[in-house]
Amino acid sequence: MTLKAVILIGGPLKGTRFRPLSLDVPKPLFPIAGQPMIYHLIENCSKVEGLNEVLLIGSYQPSEQLLTDFIARVRKQLSLQVRYYQEFAPLGTAGGIYHFRDQIQSGNPEAFFVLNSDVCGDFPLTEMLRYHRSNRHGDHHSHRELYTMLGTEATRQQSHNYGCVVSKKETGEVVHYVEKPETFVSTTINCGVYLFSMHIFQHLSQAFEKRQNSTSYEQNLPPTYRDESISLEHDLLTKLAGSDKLFVYHTNQFWSQVKSAAATIYANRNYLKIYRTRNPELLAQNCDNGPRIIGDVYIHATAQVDSTAVLGPNVSVSKGAIVGAGARLRESIILERAQIHDHACILHSIIGWDSSVGAYTRVEGTPNDPNADKPFSKIEIKDLFNNEGKLNPSITVIGSRVQVPSEIVILNTIVLPNKDISHSETNRIIL
Ligand code: GDD
Repeated sequence: MTLKAVILIGGPLKGTRFRPLSLDVPKPLFPIAGQPMIYHLIENCSKVEGLNEVLLIGSYQPSEQLLTDFIARVRKQLSLQVRYYQEFAPLGTAGGIYHFRDQIQSGNPEAFFVLNSDVCGDFPLTEMLRYHRSNRHGDHHSHRELYTMLGTEATRQQSHNYGCVVSKKETGEVVHYVEKPETFVSTTINCGVYLFSMHIFQHLSQAFEKRQNSTSYEQNLPPTYRDESISLEHDLLTKLAGSDKLFVYHTNQFWSQVKSAAATIYANRNYLKIYRTRNPELLAQNCDNGPRIIGDVYIHATAQVDSTAVLGPNVSVSKGAIVGAGARLRESIILERAQIHDHACILHSIIGWDSSVGAYTRVEGTPNDPNADKPFSKIEIKDLFNNEGKLNPSITVIGSRVQVPSEIVILNTIVLPNKDISHSETNRIIL
């Protein structure tokens, strides 16, 4: 029996917290550890035996060239069928799955995975499938309708930012599910990764009917949009909890949401760490005529890095980027064709496409890592400004096509694309 996967890629109206980076590239294609965010998810799916097709569902225009090019490349590289299906309007986290049900059901797959596109991690999909199948067989109903979701542990304080899952300890059966509860429900949270048997379409059909007949829901949307929107979390998971059909598979492997630019630095570090064990050939090595490499560093084959530069740990340098003599880079992502001039220093920052950082300039941000003293802590999704209207310290992001002059300091600052900078800046958004 075959399997499929659906990745919910959202659309241009989503990802606003990811600005300014999402102004230049659809958020799911933002490169982390040298590959677009969703490449890591698709690659993860490609490792599951029998999984031969990935459907991307979202509301980006199909003419979005970056998306088309990406799909063509991934198909070849991973020998996988990858297709994009565009929703006529954002249909919610389950509306697109229902709308494209024929495409998902064609070929009669046994089950299909669903993954949110804005999560990163080392997802144990094969183990999850094994668990899913063992539940089915354990019950002697080979065609039993079963749904498995991936769960992980969060701190009590942070759990309310996620879907919260209460399950039976012995079986993993989900007895209660609340999406982003106001009061404490559980420290087991929804990772945004699911495995659904094909019976899910019966529940989706019921949810669809219910929404069509509802008058109170999302009144401010035009009727056509309102009628077809379905929430996977509210309309399905909440209802399936307690029905003995929904199970949670726990993981303690790396998992994080990628909502903000700061989260990409954390994701970059963790994906590079995975390369260290699984794809060490992707990591830069110290060699006689090369730059000094500390820890995990990715350098695209076309990037030019001076042999006196020092990179790492946790740096990714994209296609066509140039790093000059004596430059120092740490915990940063350098995007395509960016130029880091001699002796510049880049720490906890993202340098945008076609931007340049002048000689002896220091670009530095504040790390937004999960609290290392609290087990299971996740990255905080902070508001841009604090109560006094001041920018919360975060990584520094230099948007695309920005020229940062020589011998200045840019600290905790976000610079929008095409802006001019003439002097040092601290804690500012340059609009
Ligand atoms: N195709 C499509 N259409 N995708 C969508 C739409 C839509 O209308 N709306 C959201 N998505 C995609 C987003 O791009 C994202 O990848 C995913 O669905 C979930 O997005 P959100 O609706 O922003 O939910 P969330 O991220 O705040 O919370 C969800 O994910 C958490 C884990 O990261 C929930 O599932 C939580 O329960 C969960 O803990």
